[in-house]
Amino acid sequence: MEIRRVGSRLALVAAVCGPVIISLLPHTGSAQYTRRTLIAHRGASAYAPEHTLEAYRLAVAQGADYVEQDLQITRDGHLICLHDLTLERTTDVEEVFPDRFRTETANGVSIKRWYAADFTLAEIKRLDAGAWFGEKFKGARVPTWREAIAAIRGRAGLYPETKGPEVYGKRGFDMERLVLDELRKNNLDRPGADPKTPIIIQSFSDASLRRMRHVMGTRLPLVLLIGAENRHWLAAENLRKVKEFANGIGPAKQLIDADPNLIKTAHDLGLSVTPYTFRSGATGRFKTVREEMAHYLKLGADAVFTDNPDQFPR
Ligand code: G3P
Ligand code: CA
Repeated sequence: MEIRRVGSRLALVAAVCGPVIISLLPHTGSAQYTRRTLIAHRGASAYAPEHTLEAYRLAVAQGADYVEQDLQITRDGHLICLHDLTLERTTDVEEVFPDRFRTETANGVSIKRWYAADFTLAEIKRLDAGAWFGEKFKGARVPTWREAIAAIRGRAGLYPETKGPEVYGKRGFDMERLVLDELRKNNLDRPGADPKTPIIIQSFSDASLRRMRHVMGTRLPLVLLIGAENRHWLAAENLRKVKEFANGIGPAKQLIDADPNLIKTAHDLGLSVTPYTFRSGATGRFKTVREEMAHYLKLGADAVFTDNPDQFPR
């Protein structure tokens, strides 16, 4: 017997089995990856409008292990797949509902915002979520999370993110409850419930993850996203605390550049590392997005979020 790293976990390996690796450890919440893992960021969003069923189906066709969904809540309490709190970047809401905006001031400039939470699901279903990306996607709709699950289930895993849970909390919604209830209704609320559809939940909000783990008792793998604004989590004493409520971290890739030891430090604590975001339009010092992903995987990243699933270096 020997001990090997498989993704972010240590597995006992039967050396006599040659190329066949048999993990003798139970599949637990901390063992969220079993190989270098491809997460389609907002679907195959380099090639189809983000967070549409078209982008999700293409991601599956391109071999995604997981398809990501950013989640927001409509005025009538439905989870929908949408990255922004507002609808104007990715839909034609300004044309369909020209008067339904709120006015905000940013840097002394007045701007109009169409918040998803101000619209019912029926209203949001009237919006075109594809034409902004390309004529051939005209007519694509904002999917509910339920629709996304139905489209992806059995073909890939789901990687939902609780977006703005505190914003929705102030509006009387319990995002964590809605997410876990939907998983329960789909019989996907336990690790291993559907081996073809593994679930990992992510958030920039530690409060959201803590609530799901400690208040609601989920055993599903949880990943804390870390960006410039919450990078304090990367301090050694804080990273240890992440273990109390999450199974891994999802740092902006630049944070790995800033601390080359980060992946090892996280792995030593038993945390997986899933950097974001790899996109062909922004590869920085790398010639191609494939080369860029290969670099971070070679450094030891367990998985990556990418807009270009077809470029993942298997
Ligand atoms: O969830 C990983 C990555 O998507 C975080 O950034 O802003 O694209 O949700 P964002
Ligand atoms: Ca996200």
